[in-house]
Amino acid sequence: MRNITIAIDGFSSTGKSTLAKQLAKELAYVYVDTGAMYRAVTLFAMNNNFIKADFFDKKALINSLPKIKLEFKYNPELGFAEMYLNGENVEKQIRTIEVSSFVSKVAEVSEVRSKLVEQQQEMGTNKAIVMDGRDIGTVVFPMAELKIFMTASAETRAQRRFDELRQKGDNVSYEDVLKNVVERDYIDTHREDSPLVIADDAIEIDNSYLNREEQFTAVLELVNEVV
Ligand code: C5P
Repeated sequence: MRNITIAIDGFSSTGKSTLAKQLAKELAYVYVDTGAMYRAVTLFAMNNNFIKADFFDKKALINSLPKIKLEFKYNPELGFAEMYLNGENVEKQIRTIEVSSFVSKVAEVSEVRSKLVEQQQEMGTNKAIVMDGRDIGTVVFPMAELKIFMTASAETRAQRRFDELRQKGDNVSYEDVLKNVVERDYIDTHREDSPLVIADDAIEIDNSYLNREEQFTAVLELVNEVV
């Protein structure tokens, strides 16, 4: 069996990371959640008051990019890597609805994208990697041996994210979560730099009516055809 690169792209809250984690575990591959990297840069921008409400000082963020150090550190208790921003574990802080509401604006900035894409490509030099995001199959690893593109209706996705946030004790409303999902879809698909599009050679999976196991089995079959 040869080592390959698996790119998983798709809309917000389609369960990309759940699938990617399952695959990485099964294949003993590295898993990289690139959304966590954009979220950590967003948290940095928020902590420094570069972004709030309708205000976004892009220039200040761009000038500060060299000061942002992102690392993934494996947590054996959880079985996956957590995001560290300048040495601090920010895994919880980056999953809030506040960060979600700003992240797509930060992800539009080309200078942010090139810094993160460079780091992502470095992580993938040895293959044996499952990476999820929006531009993995199109920009980060256009030569990936297997590309999956995940979709589901906005309502299904919002319901999943809402259940997840509520379980964590976040007192959000379903309407706010749906609004955020729809807004992020719009910005992610309309931005100039690396918009969310399906790669020509990606396999599309609509999981509105697929459960986790059915989806995992289907994708594992695709992996076995390629390796
Ligand atoms: O995957 P997740 O929902 O955590 O990603 C958060 C946001 O980060 C996305 O809505 C998108 O704006 C941005 N993103 C991106 N490119 C990636 C991964 C995430 O633009 N490769």
